[in-house]
Amino acid sequence: MRFLGVLLLVLVTISGATTMQAQAPAREPVGNLAQVMRAILFPNSNILFDTQSRDPDAPPEEAAGGSGASATFANIYKGWPLVESAAIALAESAQLIAMEGRLCQNGKPVPLADAAFMGYARDLAAVGRRAYEVAQTKDLEAMSEMTNEVAGACENCHAEYRRYPEENRCTAP
Ligand code: HEC
Repeated sequence: MRFLGVLLLVLVTISGATTMQAQAPAREPVGNLAQVMRAILFPNSNILFDTQSRDPDAPPEEAAGGSGASATFANIYKGWPLVESAAIALAESAQLIAMEGRLCQNGKPVPLADAAFMGYARDLAAVGRRAYEVAQTKDLEAMSEMTNEVAGACENCHAEYRRYPEENRCTAP
């Protein structure tokens, strides 16, 4: 009987756990679109563009010095794994661009209902994914070529949606 009691308790606990909803972090944007671009897309695309002039397998250059965390840990994630990470960041960033509720710097909502804009976001996800695959092959020439596609994915969207003056941004031309 004691065994049955314990068994029942376990079963009740398990079913309780499955009905309880684990709470995800709130899906609320923190930055505007330009800030997301500067925080995530800009630095990570630069890591990919670096492969045009520098082999990730080359020995690390003399550390820049300084005692901050960035200087101290500069050589932990390096070489091809760093290139892979940057490609992953770009692919994943498409979801952040397409996130509900985000505004552009000029206060207009990011045009999520605009099919062309969303197409460019999907292109970025696809290019990032392919860049990740190429990075895993460690083929420097293929990687360098891949960076042209990355630049193109940025440029195609910018030509239409990042216009000057800034009031014109985030709406179709
Ligand atoms: C789906 C469209 C889209 C794609 C793809 C895209 N961008 Fe942007 N980007 C924008 C828009 C729109 C703005 C202006 C945002 C604003 O004003 O809030 C912008 C702004 C920026 C800015 C900020 C400029 C400033 O005013 O300081 C940078 C940097 C940037 N993008 C880099 C990139 C890079 C690098 C890529 C490619 C890896 C990329 N973007 C891909 C739409 C896009």
